[in-house]
Amino acid sequence: MSTRPRRPAPATPAPGKVALPDLAGQKAEGVPIAMVTAYDAPSGQAAAEAGVDIILVGDSAAMTVLGHDSTMPITLDEMIVLTAAATRGASRAERAPLVIADMPFMSFQPSDRDAIVAAGRFVKEAGADAVKVEGAGPTLERIRAIGGAGIPVMGHLGLTPQSATQLGGFKAQGRTADAALQLVEDAILVQEAGAFALVLECVPAEIAGAITERLRIPTIGIGAGNRTDGQVLVWHDLLGLGAGSSPRFVERYADLHRASVDALGRYVADVRSRAFPEARHTYAIADDELAAFQAGLAAAAL
Ligand code: KIV
Repeated sequence: MSTRPRRPAPATPAPGKVALPDLAGQKAEGVPIAMVTAYDAPSGQAAAEAGVDIILVGDSAAMTVLGHDSTMPITLDEMIVLTAAATRGASRAERAPLVIADMPFMSFQPSDRDAIVAAGRFVKEAGADAVKVEGAGPTLERIRAIGGAGIPVMGHLGLTPQSATQLGGFKAQGRTADAALQLVEDAILVQEAGAFALVLECVPAEIAGAITERLRIPTIGIGAGNRTDGQVLVWHDLLGLGAGSSPRFVERYADLHRASVDALGRYVADVRSRAFPEARHTYAIADDELAAFQAGLAAAAL
Protein backbone atom coordinates (compact mmCIF):
# COMPACT_ATOMS: atom_id res chain seq x y z
CA MET A 1 0.00 0.00 0.00
CA SER A 2 1.23 3.51 -0.85
CA THR A 3 2.67 5.43 2.09
CA ARG A 4 2.64 8.74 0.21
CA PRO A 5 0.56 11.36 2.02
CA ARG A 6 -2.63 12.20 0.12
CA ARG A 7 -3.72 15.82 0.06
CA PRO A 8 -7.20 16.86 -1.04
CA ALA A 9 -7.37 18.64 -4.40
CA PRO A 10 -7.68 22.42 -4.17
CA ALA A 11 -11.35 23.48 -4.25
CA THR A 12 -10.67 26.06 -6.97
CA PRO A 13 -8.06 24.88 -9.47
CA ALA A 14 -5.67 27.50 -10.77
CA PRO A 15 -6.72 29.12 -14.07
CA GLY A 16 -4.66 28.61 -17.23
CA LYS A 17 -3.69 25.47 -19.02
CA VAL A 18 -2.72 22.16 -17.42
CA ALA A 19 0.83 21.21 -18.39
CA LEU A 20 2.90 18.05 -17.95
CA PRO A 21 4.80 19.39 -14.91
CA ASP A 22 1.45 20.00 -13.18
CA LEU A 23 0.68 16.28 -13.42
CA ALA A 24 4.11 15.33 -12.11
CA GLY A 25 3.52 17.82 -9.29
CA GLN A 26 0.16 16.22 -8.47
CA LYS A 27 1.85 12.81 -8.19
CA ALA A 28 4.58 14.26 -5.99
CA GLU A 29 2.07 15.99 -3.73
CA GLY A 30 -0.45 13.15 -3.67
CA VAL A 31 -3.22 15.15 -5.36
CA PRO A 32 -5.21 12.64 -7.45
CA ILE A 33 -5.45 13.38 -11.18
CA ALA A 34 -8.98 13.45 -12.65
CA MET A 35 -9.22 12.36 -16.28
CA VAL A 36 -12.30 11.71 -18.40
CA THR A 37 -12.90 10.92 -22.04
CA ALA A 38 -14.59 13.52 -24.25
CA TYR A 39 -15.31 13.41 -27.96
CA ASP A 40 -16.79 16.74 -29.04
CA ALA A 41 -16.86 20.44 -28.20
CA PRO A 42 -19.68 20.39 -25.61
CA SER A 43 -18.17 17.44 -23.73
CA GLY A 44 -14.70 19.01 -23.89
CA GLN A 45 -16.06 22.28 -22.50
CA ALA A 46 -18.12 20.62 -19.75
CA ALA A 47 -15.17 18.47 -18.65
CA ALA A 48 -12.93 21.52 -18.53
CA GLU A 49 -15.48 23.61 -16.62
CA ALA A 50 -15.86 20.75 -14.10
CA GLY A 51 -12.14 20.97 -13.37
CA VAL A 52 -10.79 17.73 -14.88
CA ASP A 53 -7.03 17.72 -15.33
CA ILE A 54 -6.88 15.60 -18.50
CA ILE A 55 -9.29 14.98 -21.35
CA LEU A 56 -8.66 11.77 -23.26
CA VAL A 57 -10.21 11.62 -26.71
CA GLY A 58 -10.30 7.84 -26.46
CA ASP A 59 -10.64 5.43 -29.33
CA SER A 60 -13.57 4.22 -27.20
CA ALA A 61 -15.34 6.79 -29.44
CA ALA A 62 -15.60 3.93 -31.92
CA MET A 63 -18.13 2.33 -29.57
CA THR A 64 -19.60 5.24 -27.58
CA VAL A 65 -20.03 7.70 -30.46
CA LEU A 66 -19.85 5.76 -33.72
CA GLY A 67 -21.73 2.65 -32.63
CA HIS A 68 -19.11 0.01 -33.47
CA ASP A 69 -18.74 -3.18 -31.40
CA SER A 70 -15.05 -2.60 -30.68
CA THR A 71 -12.45 0.16 -30.83
CA MET A 72 -10.74 -1.33 -33.90
CA PRO A 73 -12.68 0.26 -36.80
CA ILE A 74 -12.23 3.94 -35.92
CA THR A 75 -9.90 5.70 -38.35
CA LEU A 76 -7.21 8.29 -37.80
CA ASP A 77 -9.24 10.86 -39.75
CA GLU A 78 -12.31 10.23 -37.57
CA MET A 79 -10.21 10.54 -34.40
CA ILE A 80 -8.73 13.81 -35.65
CA VAL A 81 -12.18 15.34 -36.22
CA LEU A 82 -13.32 14.32 -32.71
CA THR A 83 -10.08 15.49 -31.09
CA ALA A 84 -10.20 18.89 -32.79
CA ALA A 85 -13.78 19.38 -31.56
CA ALA A 86 -12.96 18.36 -27.97
CA THR A 87 -9.90 20.62 -27.97
CA ARG A 88 -11.95 23.61 -29.15
CA GLY A 89 -14.53 23.00 -26.41
CA ALA A 90 -11.90 22.50 -23.70
CA SER A 91 -10.10 25.71 -24.64
CA ARG A 92 -13.22 27.76 -23.82
CA ALA A 93 -12.88 27.08 -20.09
CA GLU A 94 -10.90 29.24 -17.70
CA ARG A 95 -8.59 26.30 -16.92
CA ALA A 96 -8.01 24.18 -20.02
CA PRO A 97 -7.16 20.53 -19.33
CA LEU A 98 -4.37 18.67 -21.09
CA VAL A 99 -5.91 17.02 -24.18
CA ILE A 100 -4.60 13.58 -25.10
CA ALA A 101 -5.55 11.87 -28.36
CA ASP A 102 -5.74 8.08 -28.45
CA MET A 103 -3.83 6.66 -31.41
CA PRO A 104 -6.25 4.30 -33.16
CA PHE A 105 -5.50 0.74 -34.21
CA MET A 106 -2.96 0.59 -37.05
CA SER A 107 -2.10 4.29 -36.86
CA PHE A 108 1.15 3.52 -34.98
CA GLN A 109 1.74 -0.25 -35.15
CA PRO A 110 3.23 -0.53 -38.69
CA SER A 111 6.32 1.65 -38.26
CA ASP A 112 7.97 4.49 -36.32
CA ARG A 113 7.36 6.74 -39.31
CA ASP A 114 3.61 5.99 -39.35
CA ALA A 115 3.50 6.62 -35.61
CA ILE A 116 5.26 10.00 -35.85
CA VAL A 117 3.14 11.15 -38.80
CA ALA A 118 -0.12 10.15 -37.08
CA ALA A 119 0.87 11.72 -33.75
CA GLY A 120 1.97 14.86 -35.59
CA ARG A 121 -1.45 15.14 -37.25
CA PHE A 122 -3.13 15.06 -33.83
CA VAL A 123 -0.95 17.95 -32.69
CA LYS A 124 -1.00 20.06 -35.87
CA GLU A 125 -4.56 19.45 -37.11
CA ALA A 126 -6.43 18.78 -33.87
CA GLY A 127 -4.53 20.82 -31.29
CA ALA A 128 -3.83 17.82 -29.03
CA ASP A 129 -1.15 18.20 -26.37
CA ALA A 130 -0.13 14.54 -26.33
CA VAL A 131 -1.05 11.08 -27.62
CA LYS A 132 -1.71 7.71 -26.00
CA VAL A 133 -0.58 4.31 -27.29
CA GLU A 134 -1.46 0.85 -26.02
CA GLY A 135 0.97 -1.88 -25.04
CA ALA A 136 4.63 -2.58 -24.33
CA GLY A 137 6.82 -4.89 -26.48
CA PRO A 138 6.93 -3.42 -29.99
CA THR A 139 5.09 -0.31 -28.76
CA LEU A 140 8.16 0.73 -26.74
CA GLU A 141 10.02 1.67 -29.90
CA ARG A 142 7.02 3.75 -31.03
CA ILE A 143 6.93 5.58 -27.69
CA ARG A 144 10.60 6.45 -28.15
CA ALA A 145 10.03 7.54 -31.76
CA ILE A 146 7.00 9.77 -31.04
CA GLY A 147 8.69 11.23 -27.95
CA GLY A 148 11.82 11.80 -30.01
CA ALA A 149 9.75 13.86 -32.42
CA GLY A 150 8.81 16.11 -29.51
CA ILE A 151 5.31 14.80 -28.88
CA PRO A 152 4.52 13.66 -25.31
CA VAL A 153 3.22 10.08 -25.05
CA MET A 154 1.00 8.39 -22.47
CA GLY A 155 1.25 4.60 -22.17
CA HIS A 156 -1.59 2.13 -21.56
CA LEU A 157 -1.19 -1.35 -20.02
CA GLY A 158 -3.41 -4.03 -18.52
CA LEU A 159 -6.55 -4.54 -20.57
CA THR A 160 -5.58 -2.94 -23.87
CA PRO A 161 -8.71 -3.11 -26.04
CA GLN A 162 -6.76 -3.02 -29.34
CA SER A 163 -5.27 -6.42 -28.36
CA ALA A 164 -8.40 -7.81 -26.66
CA THR A 165 -8.44 -10.87 -28.95
CA GLN A 166 -4.85 -11.75 -27.99
CA LEU A 167 -5.67 -11.15 -24.32
CA GLY A 168 -8.61 -13.58 -24.48
CA GLY A 169 -11.34 -10.94 -24.50
CA PHE A 170 -12.25 -7.95 -22.35
CA LYS A 171 -10.90 -9.44 -19.11
CA ALA A 172 -8.99 -8.13 -16.10
CA GLN A 173 -5.22 -8.57 -16.47
CA GLY A 174 -2.36 -9.28 -14.07
CA ARG A 175 -4.29 -11.75 -11.94
CA THR A 176 -1.53 -14.34 -11.64
CA ALA A 177 1.85 -13.67 -10.01
CA ASP A 178 3.64 -14.14 -13.35
CA ALA A 179 1.26 -11.88 -15.25
CA ALA A 180 1.47 -9.24 -12.50
CA LEU A 181 5.29 -9.32 -12.53
CA GLN A 182 5.23 -8.94 -16.30
CA LEU A 183 2.97 -5.89 -15.89
CA VAL A 184 5.41 -4.28 -13.43
CA GLU A 185 8.31 -4.92 -15.84
CA ASP A 186 6.32 -3.55 -18.79
CA ALA A 187 5.30 -0.45 -16.82
CA ILE A 188 8.95 0.32 -16.02
CA LEU A 189 9.87 -0.20 -19.69
CA VAL A 190 7.09 2.17 -20.80
CA GLN A 191 8.41 4.77 -18.37
CA GLU A 192 11.99 4.27 -19.55
CA ALA A 193 10.86 4.58 -23.18
CA GLY A 194 9.82 8.13 -22.28
CA ALA A 195 6.09 8.03 -21.51
CA PHE A 196 4.97 10.88 -19.23
CA ALA A 197 2.09 8.91 -17.66
CA LEU A 198 0.55 5.45 -17.80
CA VAL A 199 -3.06 4.22 -17.92
CA LEU A 200 -3.64 0.94 -16.07
CA GLU A 201 -6.89 -0.70 -17.15
CA CYS A 202 -8.62 -3.57 -15.32
CA VAL A 203 -5.76 -4.58 -13.07
CA PRO A 204 -6.09 -5.71 -9.40
CA ALA A 205 -5.72 -2.77 -7.00
CA GLU A 206 -2.69 -4.31 -5.28
CA ILE A 207 -0.84 -4.69 -8.58
CA ALA A 208 -1.75 -1.17 -9.75
CA GLY A 209 -0.56 0.12 -6.36
CA ALA A 210 2.74 -1.76 -6.64
CA ILE A 211 3.30 -0.29 -10.12
CA THR A 212 2.38 3.21 -8.96
CA GLU A 213 4.92 3.08 -6.12
CA ARG A 214 7.68 1.99 -8.48
CA LEU A 215 7.15 4.61 -11.20
CA ARG A 216 8.27 8.24 -11.29
CA ILE A 217 5.49 9.02 -13.79
CA PRO A 218 1.81 9.24 -12.76
CA THR A 219 -0.47 6.23 -13.20
CA ILE A 220 -4.12 6.71 -14.14
CA GLY A 221 -6.41 3.81 -13.30
CA ILE A 222 -9.63 2.53 -14.79
CA GLY A 223 -10.88 -0.55 -13.00
CA ALA A 224 -7.52 -0.56 -11.18
CA GLY A 225 -8.51 0.38 -7.63
CA ASN A 226 -7.74 3.44 -5.58
CA ARG A 227 -3.94 3.36 -5.32
CA THR A 228 -3.13 4.88 -8.69
CA ASP A 229 -2.20 8.56 -9.04
CA GLY A 230 -5.43 9.32 -10.85
CA GLN A 231 -8.62 7.90 -12.31
CA VAL A 232 -10.22 7.91 -15.74
CA LEU A 233 -13.76 7.02 -16.76
CA VAL A 234 -15.46 6.98 -20.13
CA TRP A 235 -17.84 9.92 -20.59
CA HIS A 236 -20.85 7.79 -21.57
CA ASP A 237 -20.34 5.40 -18.62
CA LEU A 238 -19.89 8.19 -16.06
CA LEU A 239 -22.98 10.08 -17.21
CA GLY A 240 -25.17 7.06 -17.88
CA LEU A 241 -25.49 7.80 -21.59
CA GLY A 242 -25.42 4.18 -22.73
CA ALA A 243 -28.62 2.14 -22.86
CA GLY A 244 -27.03 -1.07 -21.54
CA SER A 245 -25.26 -2.11 -18.35
CA SER A 246 -21.82 -0.79 -17.35
CA PRO A 247 -18.66 -2.66 -16.31
CA ARG A 248 -18.28 -3.18 -12.53
CA PHE A 249 -15.63 -0.47 -12.18
CA VAL A 250 -17.96 2.26 -13.44
CA GLU A 251 -19.69 4.71 -11.12
CA ARG A 252 -22.65 6.35 -12.87
CA TYR A 253 -22.89 9.94 -11.69
CA ALA A 254 -26.05 10.61 -13.73
CA ASP A 255 -28.61 8.81 -15.89
CA LEU A 256 -28.55 11.03 -18.97
CA HIS A 257 -29.89 8.31 -21.26
CA ARG A 258 -33.09 8.14 -19.19
CA ALA A 259 -33.19 11.95 -18.89
CA SER A 260 -32.75 12.28 -22.69
CA VAL A 261 -35.48 9.76 -23.49
CA ASP A 262 -37.85 11.47 -21.03
CA ALA A 263 -37.15 14.95 -22.43
CA LEU A 264 -37.45 13.77 -26.04
CA GLY A 265 -40.70 11.98 -25.21
CA ARG A 266 -42.16 15.24 -23.86
CA TYR A 267 -40.99 17.04 -27.02
CA VAL A 268 -42.69 14.46 -29.28
CA ALA A 269 -45.93 14.77 -27.28
CA ASP A 270 -45.80 18.59 -27.48
CA VAL A 271 -45.24 18.51 -31.26
CA ARG A 272 -48.13 16.11 -31.77
CA SER A 273 -50.49 18.20 -29.59
CA ARG A 274 -49.22 21.50 -31.06
CA ALA A 275 -48.31 22.64 -27.53
CA PHE A 276 -44.90 23.45 -29.04
CA PRO A 277 -43.98 25.96 -30.37
CA GLU A 278 -45.69 28.70 -28.34
CA ALA A 279 -45.91 32.40 -29.27
CA ARG A 280 -42.67 33.07 -27.35
CA HIS A 281 -40.78 30.75 -29.71
CA THR A 282 -42.08 32.54 -32.82
CA TYR A 283 -40.86 35.58 -34.81
CA ALA A 284 -43.32 38.51 -35.21
CA ILE A 285 -44.21 40.53 -38.30
CA ALA A 286 -45.63 44.07 -37.99
CA ASP A 287 -49.40 44.37 -38.62
CA ASP A 288 -48.94 46.72 -41.60
CA GLU A 289 -46.40 44.39 -43.21
CA LEU A 290 -48.72 41.42 -42.68
CA ALA A 291 -51.65 43.32 -44.19
CA ALA A 292 -49.50 44.28 -47.19
CA PHE A 293 -48.34 40.68 -47.57
CA GLN A 294 -51.92 39.42 -47.56
CA ALA A 295 -52.94 42.08 -50.09
CA GLY A 296 -49.98 41.03 -52.22
CA LEU A 297 -51.04 37.39 -52.10
CA ALA A 298 -54.56 38.34 -53.18
CA ALA A 299 -53.32 40.66 -55.98
CA ALA A 300 -51.02 37.97 -57.34
CA ALA A 301 -53.76 35.37 -56.99
CA LEU A 302 -51.38 33.16 -55.01
O1 KIV B 1 -10.32 4.71 -25.34
C1 KIV B 1 -10.49 4.97 -24.14
O2 KIV B 1 -11.50 5.56 -23.74
C2 KIV B 1 -9.44 4.56 -23.21
C3 KIV B 1 -9.73 4.70 -21.75
C4 KIV B 1 -10.64 3.62 -21.31
C5 KIV B 1 -8.49 4.73 -20.94
O3 KIV B 1 -8.41 4.12 -23.62
